[in-house]
This record gives sequence, structure tokens and C-alpha cells, in this order.
Amino acid sequence: MIEIRTAAITDAGALSELRWEFRSAQDPPTEAHDAFVRRCGEWMRRELSIGGSWKAWVAVDQAVIVGQVWVQTVQKIPNPVADSEAEHLAYLSNLYVTASARGGAGTRLLETALDWCRANRIDRVVLWPSKRSVTLYLGHGFSRGGDVMELKIRR
Ligand SMILES: CC(C)(COP(=O)(O)OP(=O)(O)OC[C@H]1O[C@@H](n2cnc3c(N)ncnc32)[C@H](O)[C@@H]1OP(=O)(O)O)[C@@H](O)C(=O)NCCC(=O)NCCS
Repeated sequence: MIEIRTAAITDAGALSELRWEFRSAQDPPTEAHDAFVRRCGEWMRRELSIGGSWKAWVAVDQAVIVGQVWVQTVQKIPNPVADSEAEHLAYLSNLYVTASARGGAGTRLLETALDWCRANRIDRVVLWPSKRSVTLYLGHGFSRGGDVMELKIRR
């Protein structure tokens, strides 16, 4: 039975290993495994500390972390025109479940993160989906072609 819970600082090592698994399966890494896991683990420990701008949740199967999702709150400048503009943004990223644990865990992680966004007065959530995951996000109310503009400075 997979459990979803808030990530703790002590999860950083396992979460950086999962991050390596996710990204190195997509593209050839340009950094060695150990160096990456150390760098990423340090970043995650910092961001999961008090004052960090990210929040994360993990999927746990029999005490082993098998998935994660991260949300960063993006600050916007206060706006005197209440309700007409989204003032509280969030960026959702790094939704990943290890292959052997897939089949429902991804949905549960996503829903947990979105429940947190709703409970914390987030007005909009943005993300860049992988091709295969688009249906997952569409099924949770995400749409394409909103009013966001994007400039690709580097590909
Ligand atoms: C995306 C992911 C977290 C979903 O986890 P899961 O437990 O398989 O998800 P669920 O069973 O709850 O939901 C199934 C949906 O996940 C998505 N999905 C399934 N396999 C996927 C894969 N290999 N890669 C990306 N998305 C996938 C599809 O949208 C699928 O819905 P559909 O079958 O109706 O098209 C998981 O497949 C994964 O880690 N994929 C690789 C990483 C990735 O692409 N993450 C998204 C980054 S934006």
C-alpha cells in the first residue's frame, strides 16, 4: 500500500537519487552520478528547510520512497485590483514515480500537491509537462494555451 506524505529534509538523499533516475532516463547526463546526487541533495535539503520556497511530497511503499512531486510558490507583486489577477502562483515540477510503483501513485501525488495549492490560496499552477503526462494534467483541470507568454532564451 503506497502512502503519500510531506517530504522531510532527511528524504533529500533518496529524492536526489530518484531525480537522477528520472532525468538520466530522458537524456544522457552531462554530470557524474555521485556529483549530481550530492549537489541535488544539498539543494533539496536547503529548499526543504524553513524559509525554502519549495514544498514536496513523497510516495512511500513499505518504507521505500518511490515517487515525488515538488511545488514552488512564486511571489507576485501585490495588486490593488483584487480578484481580477492571479496573485498567488505555483510552479509544479519533478512529478515522478519509479516504474515498478506506477499505476495510481502519480495521480495521488498530483492531487496531494493540488489540494495543498487550493488550501494555500494559490490562484494558478503552471508546469511544463512531458509528452506522455499531458493526459494526466488535462484530467486534473490543466489547460493549454492560456494567457501566459514564454520566451525561450536557450533551448
Ligand atoms: C507521470 C507519472 C508520475 C505518473 O505516475 P503513474 O503512477 O503512472 O500515474 P497514474 O497511474 O496515476 O496516471 C496515469 C497517467 O500518467 C501518465 N503516464 C503514464 N505513464 C507515463 C510515463 N511513462 N511518462 C509520463 N507520464 C505517464 C499518463 O497521463 C497516464 O494517463 P493515461 O494512461 O490516461 O494517458 C509516472 O508515469 C512517471 O514518473 N513518468 C516519468 C516521469 C514524467 O514524465 N513525469 C512527468 C513530468 S511533467
